[in-house]
Amino acid sequence: MIKAAILGYGVVGSGVYEIIHKNEKSISRKTGGKTITVKHILDLRDFPDHEQPELFTKNYEDILHDPEVSIVVEVMGGLKPAYEYSKAALLAGKNVITSNKELVAEHGTELMAIAKEHDVNYLFEASVGGGIPIIRPLNQCLAANEIEEIYGILNGTTNYILTKMVAEGADFDGALSEAQRLGYAERNPEADVEGYDACRKIAILASLASGKYVNWRNVPTEGITKITRSDVAFAEKYHAVIKLVGAAKIVDGEVYCRVSPMVIPAGHQLSEVNDVFNAILVKGDSIGDVMFYGRGAGKLPTASAVVADVIDAAKHIHINKFITWKEAKEDFMIDPETVTSRYFVRANSEGVMDSFPNAESLGNENGEWFFVTEEMTEAEFKKVFADRGAFIRVLEA
Ligand code: HSE
Repeated sequence: MIKAAILGYGVVGSGVYEIIHKNEKSISRKTGGKTITVKHILDLRDFPDHEQPELFTKNYEDILHDPEVSIVVEVMGGLKPAYEYSKAALLAGKNVITSNKELVAEHGTELMAIAKEHDVNYLFEASVGGGIPIIRPLNQCLAANEIEEIYGILNGTTNYILTKMVAEGADFDGALSEAQRLGYAERNPEADVEGYDACRKIAILASLASGKYVNWRNVPTEGITKITRSDVAFAEKYHAVIKLVGAAKIVDGEVYCRVSPMVIPAGHQLSEVNDVFNAILVKGDSIGDVMFYGRGAGKLPTASAVVADVIDAAKHIHINKFITWKEAKEDFMIDPETVTSRYFVRANSEGVMDSFPNAESLGNENGEWFFVTEEMTEAEFKKVFADRGAFIRVLEA
């Protein structure tokens, strides 16, 4: 019998409880006969109508000092008190499973090292891509590869909003409210729409893929709040859609990483990823392209990835799975200004296009001119463009 505790009984925490109960028998089959039960749930709120109200505690010490608890599921989100609680559990020789990308992106290096020292595991499959398997594939199934590129639609809320804007001409606020109602959005919607959530996720993937800790602070990040209906309409004229993309490239051990809206031409694998769905396209040197697709947010999809980690931890009691990256001393981040792209431009005067003799014109509307440039470095582009409007990078097929 394996006893687990859940920290935080919100959307994901209640999903974890539900799946562990609902699928108890099949889970036990997958752990080789060990039954997993929830012994404690930590939450400051009261749940008097819960089927097992006796599980609830407001005191973390009840969990930390319970020798029967070998797996702690941290689904509180945020850094405080999740960091202290996770660290204390690992130091006490308990496995910690999390969906908390903010915590993994900030303190993952330290928490994985503590887990290793104590022969336990710090697992975080649900921190990126919700229910989609991506952390374990990068660490295990694709382990033979040098990972060269990752392009991910990593935020369900923004993908949901952009899909509604394209398909229904919905306005931004209405689509965001609906995403919040459906339980996709972060508590603070800024984290979704300004790209901060996707930033933490691509930083985690780039760290795993490169083996070097990519600090999310070094990832240039831009959200979707400045995208207009005209951008969406003229991208459509270009046979493309606009999506928020987390991108990482690894070249000779150096890493390029960015989060920004991108214009994705029809036919590209990511162009068809709609609603709350996430997708992550990985290029490995041996496998080539491999794509992971599924529900990137929501109660049961995210809980499904958390419970998979719980099962993995139950199968590896006192065996560290060696998931880690290192803090690199040298500067290994590629200057984003040196990276090349084509640019989808919304210019504020007709003359701007004259500065780009090879540009493809898309037309104009209400004093704005739309065109797509030839491929050039970001530094070259910005010098010529000189802030005369707005631009979105084009993702090549
Ligand atoms: N707010 C996140 C999203 C939740 O919309 O994708 C999953 O990390």
